[in-house]
Amino acid sequence: MSDQLRPRASLRTAVVWEVLKDALDRRAEATGRDSLDVLDTGGGTGNFAVPVARLGHRVTVVDPSPNALFALERRAAEAGVADRVRGVQGDILGLFEVADRAGYDAVLCHGVLEYVDDPAEGVRNAVDALRPSGALSLLGAGLGGAVLARALAGHFVEARQALSDPAGRWGEGDPVPRRFTAEQLSELVDAAGVEVGAVHGVRVFADLVPGVLVDTEPGAVEALLALEAAVAELPAFHSVATQLHVLGEKRA
Ligand SMILES: C[S@@+](CC[C@H](N)C(=O)[O-])C[C@H]1O[C@@H](n2cnc3c(N)ncnc32)[C@H](O)[C@@H]1O
Repeated sequence: MSDQLRPRASLRTAVVWEVLKDALDRRAEATGRDSLDVLDTGGGTGNFAVPVARLGHRVTVVDPSPNALFALERRAAEAGVADRVRGVQGDILGLFEVADRAGYDAVLCHGVLEYVDDPAEGVRNAVDALRPSGALSLLGAGLGGAVLARALAGHFVEARQALSDPAGRWGEGDPVPRRFTAEQLSELVDAAGVEVGAVHGVRVFADLVPGVLVDTEPGAVEALLALEAAVAELPAFHSVATQLHVLGEKRA
């Protein structure tokens, strides 16, 4: 079963997937080409790269992890899209050692900026890889979602620490090196030469609801998915989302 068909997995990816799929459809229509060139920076094991290839697009995944690239290769083969997915070992900060400048109709940068030393350079590289009017899909860890999650777990000091820490970290044990507000991500994207089209809050409730409520109540996953979709575009919920998605178009 593909990830997009697995209800539990789709709680993590559904909002981004719907926005991304629409953006790719619009790009295909605008360029008059059914098969787009897509770059997935930090694409890992192919959570998005493989479904994008299944739409008929050619996807290059750049990721520093050989293990992730190995899993990607196997997953692409299982999905029957091995001929449209190319994995390359590389870093978003040295992107043009392995990828083409201005060579792609769409660039994905999902869950990567948290881990790089210079997020502004990472975004600039992602944008420089785009053709004029190309689509940028950026997903980053949200600051407010982490504050809320720590507070609801009773870790009030850590919640406050995340609020005041310049990188949005709640303490030494925090596995995420950096978090962002919607404004910070939008500013990074704008400064790199991309017009922000939409901002979505991702996993506003999904990580806060006890798993047992979602797994045992009939229809609960579907209802939660519909709720996540309903709040994703409402700015009021951006400040408490676990992740933030920014979709934009490179200025021509
Ligand atoms: C949280 S995973 C996200 C994977 C995938 N983008 C997704 O959304 O499922 C982060 C990925 O970023 C990769 N990564 C970490 N540092 C990176 C860097 N400097 N440049 C490119 N990718 C990086 C990791 O190897 C990992 O595959």
